[in-house]
Amino acid sequence: MIRSPQTKNEWIAYFQLRYAILRAPWGQAKGSEQTADEAQHQHFAYFDTENLLLGVGRLDLLDPQTTQVRFMAVAEHQQGKGIGRALMEEMESISKEKGIQKIILHAREVALPFYQQLGYQLDAPSHLLFGEIQHFLMHKLI
Ligand SMILES: CC(C)(COP(=O)(O)OP(=O)(O)OC[C@H]1O[C@@H](n2cnc3c(N)ncnc32)[C@H](O)[C@@H]1OP(=O)(O)O)[C@@H](O)C(=O)NCCC(=O)NCCS
Repeated sequence: MIRSPQTKNEWIAYFQLRYAILRAPWGQAKGSEQTADEAQHQHFAYFDTENLLLGVGRLDLLDPQTTQVRFMAVAEHQQGKGIGRALMEEMESISKEKGIQKIILHAREVALPFYQQLGYQLDAPSHLLFGEIQHFLMHKLI
């Protein structure tokens, strides 16, 4: 099931997964996985049947027509099983309900085929994270 974390422990697990997948492998400090404005955004967590948190994603409203997907991460041994797709489809569905017409994101190079498979189009190279992870701006009209 996909829903926002609710309890204190679920929020800890949510940010811990983000940190483990998107920050720790590059030696980044704890805390670097969060932004100052987390409370302003919408959070999506994938829970399995035992209520284990296996995947996360954040949806930011950029303007009345546009959302941005950020901090997409699936637990290491759970990747390739459809969890990322399920999270993206849920964020798309919520975006559609709000009348959003376009979703954008900055994809890591390794994740390009994942987003392309889900119908996102590559626009241009964007920023270099930690001096080494090239990102690419992508979009999908929904
Ligand atoms: C990228 C990531 C979020 C994808 O989630 P996932 O659960 O592993 O992906 P899914 O199993 O839902 O894959 C969805 C589709 O994309 C395809 N896909 C995923 N990764 C792929 C790859 N590297 N190459 C080709 N296709 C890929 C799958 O085959 C699948 O296609 P299908 O549904 O038609 O069978 C996840 O692997 C991850 O957390 N990676 C490490 C962190 C990261 O790079 N995050 C993205 C930051 S921008």
